[in-house]
Amino acid sequence: MRRILVTGGCGFIGTNFIRYLFEKTEFSGKVINLDKLTYAGNPKNLEGLAEQYGAGRYRFLRGEIGDAALVEKILREEEVDTVVHFAAESHVDRSIRGPEEFVRTNVLGTFTLLETARRVWQSSKGKIFHHVSTDEVFGSLGPVGFFTERSPYDPRSPYSASKASSDHLVRAYFYTYRLPVMVSNCSNNYGPYQFPEKMIPLMVLNALEGKPLPVYGEGTNVRDWLHVEDHCSALWAILNRGRLGETYAVGGRSETTNLRLVESLCDILETKAPESRPQGGFRSLITFVKDRPGHDQRYAIDCRKIEEELGWKRRFTLAQGLEETLLWYLRNRAWCDEVRRGEYAEWIQTHYGSGERE
Ligand code: NAD
Ligand code: DAU
Repeated sequence: MRRILVTGGCGFIGTNFIRYLFEKTEFSGKVINLDKLTYAGNPKNLEGLAEQYGAGRYRFLRGEIGDAALVEKILREEEVDTVVHFAAESHVDRSIRGPEEFVRTNVLGTFTLLETARRVWQSSKGKIFHHVSTDEVFGSLGPVGFFTERSPYDPRSPYSASKASSDHLVRAYFYTYRLPVMVSNCSNNYGPYQFPEKMIPLMVLNALEGKPLPVYGEGTNVRDWLHVEDHCSALWAILNRGRLGETYAVGGRSETTNLRLVESLCDILETKAPESRPQGGFRSLITFVKDRPGHDQRYAIDCRKIEEELGWKRRFTLAQGLEETLLWYLRNRAWCDEVRRGEYAEWIQTHYGSGERE
């Protein structure tokens, strides 16, 4: 009966993880979701959960992971035994335009969580601090080879540098203070509830609106795509069967170039959204634009450790996952429009004011 503090639970992966716990696992404990509600967090994603599963099983608090007093109060009052730490600034392009918030949340925020858990958790018995990280900390691959848990760190963007810093802090707390930590480094996720600044939802929504599909550079960069539900099942496997102090690399075994991915999305749209088809077809919207500075060429994960040690396997192939995801966005155009225009900001203000403070 774990009592889990999920940070950043109103974002893309956090939302999917909380839903996954309640809807697809035998989890019978409580989730306390602490989220600051930046542009990327939408509490409506989880509306109705407390009613459906009981107020004793789900609680949302609007707040900042960098607020040590608030985090301490939650850990003590809720008798939290597990932290699953998603909260972060997560978009590479935003980190290039304004890196400061990335350092504040990803580095200092993680530090505050670690330090508070160390203070509150007198014993590590039954406790877990799981840090959700990214494959981007390993830098950029050439045409061959894979990232593993032992790959050297080589971050190239302010985002990945801030995540790398947080990974180092998390491991330092294991060795220095025996804080019961685990780390996962995952490849690119896709699926429902992803903020439409990221590649897949951005391309789908632009295509439906007949807008250009902006492919950076020549579209030759490679990403290893994983359906978000498979990431959630990996996290659940780690929480249940992972070894403290260990790192798990999680990937989709689904490498593709950006251009090929956008073309695939266009082809699915041809059959699933013919009414929105522009003259010349969806592919005619593909537009090559200026490259992202420091754009990592290729990410690819060797995920044999989590497969062999924990018996985890991804369920979705990329083709199947892309089609399901695209159908979700087609069915949830209102959600997309709302988050794109930030329409829920007023709703958040009415319901949560400026949030919890200590
Ligand atoms: P997201 O941007 O969709 O969501 C981030 C959430 O964190 C939002 O709800 C936001 O309001 C919240 N948040 C931001 N700053 C906060 C703060 N100071 N205090 C409390 N809450 C705060 O991100 P995501 O794509 O869901 O990613 C979640 C985590 O997974 C991140 O740590 C990211 O680095 C990691 N990750 C993401 C991917 C991916 O492909 N999206 C892949 C691997 C790892
Ligand atoms: O690898 C894991 C990482 O994946 C996570 O840690 C990050 O939080 C997440 O944002 C994601 O980072 P990327 O930079 O890889 O994702 P993004 O969706 O921004 O871009 C995917 C690829 O598509 C990348 O090579 C850049 C390219 N791209 C992106 C956008 C938004 C385009 O060509 N055009 C675009 O408009």
